[in-house]
Amino acid sequence: MPGTKVLVVDDDLNIQRVLVFALKQEGYDVIVASDGAAGVEMARDAQPDLILMDVAMPKLDGYAATQQIRAAEQGRRVPIIMLTAEADVGQRVKGLRAGADDDIVKPFHPLELMARIKALLARGGTATGSADETPTLGRLGLFYPAKGGVGNTTIAINTAIALSRELKRKTALIDANLQFGDLRVFLDLGLDTASMVNAVSETDLDADLLRKLMVRHRSGMDLLLAPPSPESADIVVERQRLAPAVVTNILALARRIYDFTLVDMSQAIDDFNLQLFDESDVIFVVMTADLSCLKNVRLVLETMDSLGYEKSKVQLVLNRSNAYTGINVSNAESALGRKIDYQIINEYRAAISALNSGEPFMSSRPEQPLGKSVLAFATALEKDAIAAASAPPDR
Ligand SMILES: Nc1ncnc2c1ncn2[C@@H]1O[C@H](COP(=O)(O)OP(=O)(O)OP(=O)(O)O)[C@@H](O)[C@H]1O
Ligand SMILES: [Mg+2]
Repeated sequence: MPGTKVLVVDDDLNIQRVLVFALKQEGYDVIVASDGAAGVEMARDAQPDLILMDVAMPKLDGYAATQQIRAAEQGRRVPIIMLTAEADVGQRVKGLRAGADDDIVKPFHPLELMARIKALLARGGTATGSADETPTLGRLGLFYPAKGGVGNTTIAINTAIALSRELKRKTALIDANLQFGDLRVFLDLGLDTASMVNAVSETDLDADLLRKLMVRHRSGMDLLLAPPSPESADIVVERQRLAPAVVTNILALARRIYDFTLVDMSQAIDDFNLQLFDESDVIFVVMTADLSCLKNVRLVLETMDSLGYEKSKVQLVLNRSNAYTGINVSNAESALGRKIDYQIINEYRAAISALNSGEPFMSSRPEQPLGKSVLAFATALEKDAIAAASAPPDR
């Protein structure tokens, strides 16, 4: 990248040396400041294309330096990556709040840093103001399992990938299984990422900060992960109980940023889930064709009815539709007294090998029957969302 200027702000000579070497090898022009105050000056005078900012430095620390750089900026916004020694998510969010765009925990591999730099530069850090505000479809869709193990998470993940990768829609997936969220495992992610806990703890969460709390998946979708432990789930539950508006705000911001915000829910019917139900556009009840599941679906449909939702807000998704259960689709429909809206086929090997490899089938083998089945479902979602977005508002 000749002509792309990177400013390194770090007081540690060794780290300076390593970074300068790695950056120059990649072809970047490099300038160096050895403390925060010098960093602020150089950011102003040398107009770098990107800044790597250490956190702990004499004179002015990385947070304060970042804040000063942001405060002095007019129009052009330089991407800043914080180099932090803290794996602690709270500390890292502090950096993001100060105005950094990304952070990386020391010690890091130079290749990872280079990947982050490229991603940030590609995102067009030189655009004016905060990130783009082109209107989105703003559709909020929930995946609600009628029973454990019906494939709720599998369908939520792969639908989100279909929307983002195949249909090129800005898509977010929220893991609302607060205690035992599965997205980290299904997608092979660590525990050290931001999560729902950070999102509900921010008193003035705006679109910019929410965007930074989301974890970008290789497939292009953004994830808001579940709390990293069952104990920290309590923080989210309590926060929702005391201030439901916090959750409303997160969802409203997500609608503004994404065409589709999908939520992988737990089966509980509690305050948190009831709020999600209320705020959503559409609820996909994921089911399989067995007796105990059909019984649950009936109860769920009755509950939704008593909540006063329109029939069209609740849609039935029959997973593993062609698996032999002794109950076929029309049996199931007559037992429920309503139509099943969507069907996803059964393909155990594809589903399980995707799970074990941490690479969802929609990313690795979209052309297989299971992938096609989910893509057809995602395409129908898109069509509904477009129709809803162009209909006169009734909310
Ligand atoms: N269409 C499908 N064909 C074959 N296997 C599937 C299909 N969908 C899901 N599975 C398999 O079913 C199992 C359960 O899936 P998943 O974890 O997505 O369900 P869940 O409803 O989210 O479960 P939990 O109650 O644990 O949250 C997994 O092993 C998954 O690979
Ligand atoms: Mg699940």
